[in-house]
Amino acid sequence: MICWTPLPVRLLLVGLLSTSLCYAGKHPTRVDETSNCLECHADKINGQDVHPALKKGCVACHAIENKDDTTYVNLKLSPAVGCFACHQQQPVFLYSHFPYSSGMCLRCHDPHSSAYPKLVKDKVNDLCLACHLRSTQGAQSPYLPTIALVNNNTIGHPYAQHPVSGKPDPLTGGELSCISCHTAHGGAKKHLLKMAGQIPEDALNEVTETRDMCSKCHQVLWGVDPATSARKKHKGR
Ligand code: HEC
Ligand code: HEC
Ligand code: HEC
Ligand code: HEC
Ligand code: HEC
Ligand code: HEC
Ligand code: HEC
Repeated sequence: MICWTPLPVRLLLVGLLSTSLCYAGKHPTRVDETSNCLECHADKINGQDVHPALKKGCVACHAIENKDDTTYVNLKLSPAVGCFACHQQQPVFLYSHFPYSSGMCLRCHDPHSSAYPKLVKDKVNDLCLACHLRSTQGAQSPYLPTIALVNNNTIGHPYAQHPVSGKPDPLTGGELSCISCHTAHGGAKKHLLKMAGQIPEDALNEVTETRDMCSKCHQVLWGVDPATSARKKHKGR
């Protein structure tokens, strides 16, 4: 594992950011492995996106144990490790995102179903901004980089005036969001960028990597032929 932050800092962040998980304990009614859990827990499969893991039954992740008059329902493994029972842990990223590498999967994903794609618990930007929005009280932690936004958190990053939502993403056709430019789990580029770039300082300058990043979207937006006129267009702005 690549740790570019000293260990104590990472431990501190875990304490700060992890929510307490309530997933084990006594079940209010008697059930066994063959019970139809959905009779009472139908909400677990409501939602646009239902986790395919549920096809294997609830007991793929929940262990049922009956002792005397009491039923205990426990998670088979800890939440993060449980995910890796079926999902391959992505190979070590050059730049990994702390909540992914520290196993806080449930901070962003619902294990059952969700109204949002990829089982994320909330609109992507709200999810990210819960940790990364700069508030007037300052950052939640000195180790947590934050960004400042205006207009209902729709504008202002990666530099003033740039939208982060409310416009179509020219590359995917979906809505522009944090993951138009960043990877959620980690990647090979600094700042978890999907495309190369070091901005805002050199946003419009001659640094090839930076130009590549902006032009990925803006050639499409402006209908520019990538091969010939990207550069001219940039200078002409
Ligand atoms: C007869 C109704 C009923 C059935 C059937 C049922 N449950 Fe529940 N279950 C409940 C109620 C009520 C609660 C408490 C409220 C809540 O968390 O939804 C609960 C709570 C839970 C919890 C949370 C426990 C905790 O410690 O917070 C889990 C996990 C769970 N059920 C799993 C299951 C699984 C797995 C099955 C199928 C094997 C199942 N339930 C079948 C009614 C039921
Ligand atoms: C992929 C693994 C997985 C499967 C399959 C799964 N669960 Fe869960 N379940 C979890 C995890 C992880 C938690 C703990 C969530 C937390 O702490 O935020 C949980 C928590 C719960 C809870 C209590 C907290 C809550 O979200 O209400 C209930 C009730 C529950 N599961 C019911 C079910 C039922 C019913 C099924 C089958 C339809 C099911 N689960 C299938 C992983 C799973
Ligand atoms: C019992 C096996 C199993 C477990 C355990 C499991 N998954 Fe999955 N999950 C699947 C399968 C199968 C798919 C569909 C194929 C795929 O995308 O890999 C899937 C898909 C997903 C997707 C993509 C859904 C989509 O809309 O494309 C997400 C996100 C996900 N799982 C998150 C989790 C998280 C978080 C955990 C731990 C709480 C977890 N999974 C545990 C089997 C599992
Ligand atoms: C910071 C929020 C966040 C955390 C933490 C996180 N994810 Fe994700 N995950 C996402 C988002 C957002 C997507 C959708 C990415 C996309 O569509 O580009 C995603 C996509 C996925 C997918 C779908 C396949 C893929 O790669 O697109 C799986 C499976 C998944 N996550 C599993 C996990 C597991 C397992 C963990 C914990 C080790 C985890 N995630 C932690 C936000 C997160
Ligand atoms: C639970 C809190 C949490 C959530 C939610 C979260 N992050 Fe982070 N993120 C962190 C922490 C902590 C760091 C910095 C420490 C580290 O990575 O070691 C970080 C680092 C980053 C960085 C790297 C900054 C840099 O300069 O290297 C980016 C970019 C980022 N997050 C984007 C996102 C996006 C996009 C989302 C939503 C998909 C998101 N984050 C959701 C906690 C969070
Ligand atoms: C149009 C592309 C783009 C979008 C959309 C975008 N970012 Fe960024 N982000 C960047 C670039 C480029 C950088 C690196 C330059 C910088 O530090 O401003 C960056 C840097 C960051 C950093 C590190 C800041 C620091 O001071 O180290 C965080 C945290 C971050 N982004 C979070 C987010 C979140 C959260 C969202 C969604 C609300 C988001 N980004 C949307 C391009 C984008
Ligand atoms: C993921 C795609 C994406 C990337 C990457 C991206 N942009 Fe944008 N940009 C957009 C979208 C979408 C708009 C809004 C277009 C509209 O208003 O219809 C926009 C708007 C702009 C605007 C106009 C803002 C205003 O004043 O209204 C400028 C200037 C701009 N981008 C510059 C850049 C620069 C410089 C970079 C590289 C650092 C960059 N963009 C990277 C998608 C992107």
